Amino acid sequence: MEQTFVMVKPDGVQRGLTGKIISTLEEKGYKLRAIKMLRLSEKMAGKHYAEHVEKSFYSSLLQYITSGPVVAMVWEGKNAVKGARTIIGKTNPLEADPGSIRGKYAIDLGRNVIHGSDSPESAQREIAIYFNPEELVDYSMANDKWIYE
Ligand code: RTP
Ligand code: MG
Repeated sequence: MEQTFVMVKPDGVQRGLTGKIISTLEEKGYKLRAIKMLRLSEKMAGKHYAEHVEKSFYSSLLQYITSGPVVAMVWEGKNAVKGARTIIGKTNPLEADPGSIRGKYAIDLGRNVIHGSDSPESAQREIAIYFNPEELVDYSMANDKWIYE
C-alpha cells in the first residue's frame, strides 16, 4: 500500500475545512496512519518546499505556509499519491475540477487550502520531515475487505 503526505494549509485550518478534508479522504477509503497539528518554522517550511527555493513565489509561499497552524497527515491506500492529488485538484484553484477540494474551496493560487505529495518519493521525503517512523500507527481497518477486492 502506498503512503502520501497531506497537509491542511493555514488558510484551510482558519476557514474550518480540516474536518471536511479528513472526511473526504476517509470516505474515499484511505487509512489515516498519522496526524498532528503544528505551526511550521521557517526551517521546516524551507525543507518542505526546498524544490521551489529559486522560484519567484518562494518567499510569499514561505510566509503563507508559516502564517498559522497546519494539520499534517499520512494517508495510506492503493495509489494514494495520485488518488489524493486528484481529490485535491490542480494547483491553481481556477483550473481545478469543481468537485475537487481546491475546486470547491479555493480561488487564489497562493491560498489553495491543502498540500498533497506529487510522487511516492516526495511522499516519503515529506513524511520524514513531519513524523518519526513510530508515529505512523499500524492497524487494520474492519472495512478493508469492502474497499479492496
Ligand atoms: P503543494 O506542493 O502545495 O501541494 O502544491 P502543488 O504541488 O499543487 O504545486 P507546487 O508547484 O508544488 O507549488 C507549491 C505551492 O506554491 C504556490 N505556488 N504559487 N505564484 C505561483 O506561480 C505559484 N505557483 C505555486 C501554491 O500555493 C502551490 O500550492
Ligand atoms: Mg507540490
